[in-house]
Amino acid sequence: ADSELLDRIRSAPDLGALDALRVSALGKSGSITAQLKSLGKMSPDERSAEAPKIHAAREAVTEAIAARKAELEAAELEKRLATEKVDLSLPAPERPQGTVHPVSQVLDELAEIFADLGFSVAEGPEIEEQWFNFTALNMPEFHPARAMQDTFYCRRIGGDPAEEAHVLRTHTSPVQIRTMTSQPPPLRLIAPGRVYRSDSDATHTPMFHQVEGLVIDKGITMGHLKWTLETFLKAFFERDDIVLRMRPSYFPFTEPSAEVDVGWSMEKGRRVVGGCEGWMEVLGSGMVHPKVIANCGLDPDEWQGFAFGTGVDRLAMLKYGMDDLRAFFDGDLRWLKHYGFRS
Ligand code: PHE
Repeated sequence: ADSELLDRIRSAPDLGALDALRVSALGKSGSITAQLKSLGKMSPDERSAEAPKIHAAREAVTEAIAARKAELEAAELEKRLATEKVDLSLPAPERPQGTVHPVSQVLDELAEIFADLGFSVAEGPEIEEQWFNFTALNMPEFHPARAMQDTFYCRRIGGDPAEEAHVLRTHTSPVQIRTMTSQPPPLRLIAPGRVYRSDSDATHTPMFHQVEGLVIDKGITMGHLKWTLETFLKAFFERDDIVLRMRPSYFPFTEPSAEVDVGWSMEKGRRVVGGCEGWMEVLGSGMVHPKVIANCGLDPDEWQGFAFGTGVDRLAMLKYGMDDLRAFFDGDLRWLKHYGFRS
């Protein structure tokens, strides 16, 4: 009977049939299990004669099952390898790829242009002390100029409004103060970053980006400022025929002050392409006010300089032809795919 069982195991057609044989022999009510149980009812002599045979039979069956199982599994694998061919020539599914946001792109372009002019990059905090954002920039407390910018004030939860010591910086100009008070002149730097004003329409968002420029040295004049701005704007818009307009203006921290407009034309959307069907203000600038230089502990008779602040998002709009600033910060993937840059 045992040799017949072994034959059936060796020729089991598949894993299911093999398992059924295993149960019929070694399971709870299997034939070999029954023989093992019968040992208990035998006399000692009988048992010592029978036990080795029964154990040997169990061993043989267990081994035969394991061997057949390995054979059947190997055969199954062979079959799968033969049928499931991997076609390496199939194209891989396309993976969506992100783009560089136009603001990041323009910030990189600006850093590169100014690096060529010998400017380094400085940074400052977005939650700024009022002294850096206003006071040191010649806007003392209660000075009406503080109202020029719609400021977000920071207050501790449950705190006293009189203790509003911090603001979300309204411009990158506080970085002028931070660098002048921490590094010895001469200075030549740009400071890119986010700034905040409570304002929103097609060309204003509550958060936007500026790049500040600051040069502090001896014998710096308005001529240096004009040359620098012209050189930078021509490099940025990648053409020599752009039209610039410098308008006298007022900032508490520069004297004299000038705002710079670039002419745009409809030739290819509202872009800067030479010509001037309209003007777009792109930056504020001027000679650093002697009081600001003195506020930073420098002697204004020895050190002079110029500063400017430019709106990065507007520069991007004018160079790449977008007409709504708000779209910059909506995170709409279709917009990003269209206007973003492949890295
Ligand atoms: N901080 C000014 C603004 O945001 C721009 C500016 C910077 C003007 C530096 C003059 C000099 O409007």
